[in-house]
Amino acid sequence: MMKKAITIAPSVLSADFVNMEQGIRLIEKAECKWIHLDLMDGQFVPLITFGTQMVKSIRGITDLVLDVHLMINSPENQLDFLAEAGADYVTVHVENTVHTHRILSRIKELGMKAGIAVVPSTPVSALSELLGMVDLVLVMTVNPGFGGQKLIASCVNKIKQLYDIREREGYSFLISADGGFNRETASSVRDAGIDVAVCGSSFFGADDPSAEVVVLQGK
Ligand code: DX5
Ligand code: ZN
Repeated sequence: MMKKAITIAPSVLSADFVNMEQGIRLIEKAECKWIHLDLMDGQFVPLITFGTQMVKSIRGITDLVLDVHLMINSPENQLDFLAEAGADYVTVHVENTVHTHRILSRIKELGMKAGIAVVPSTPVSALSELLGMVDLVLVMTVNPGFGGQKLIASCVNKIKQLYDIREREGYSFLISADGGFNRETASSVRDAGIDVAVCGSSFFGADDPSAEVVVLQGK
């Protein structure tokens, strides 16, 4: 497998919510290209974080790629607002959407990139009808809901499976890993073939987030 640079996408879930701009500036200072935004609704997952208004406010202060991860029920209700807010990637979960194909089509119709996410208990095979139409596949390497959890090693195999399917079928989606990505786990996740690594606590919990990004990229 060819080694290539990965994109680090810090998640503001671990930032200080009353100093959000400070968090964004830290991400920019570390020369990351993406910001990961976790929308949670207290239904699909227990926590409630923030909604599309926050996405809009963040868009107002940065040009970085906004990678929105919807851990909410009825994600279809938010798509127009997200487009208006200036989201770049919008990722929905396969587990709580029946008309997933329609939702992904709508995301693209609105001019955004469409992503599909799987929780640890969902196999890659659940995505077989969707892989040809998505721009990103987000493999959750923890159970969604909270930052700072330990990576579930068995999920890393799904990254390899997706990498192989993409090669075989000539698909073009990016592979993203979300959860428990830190200096101890980074090399195994990178070696499995990711393009994007989401990191919340390992970025915002670092003494020097910029230096941490260099370590996480494995350069
Ligand atoms: C978890 C979220 C993640 C979270 C990752 O449900 O989807 O994006 O911020 O946090 P860490 O990197 O701390 O595991
Ligand atoms: Zn996330």
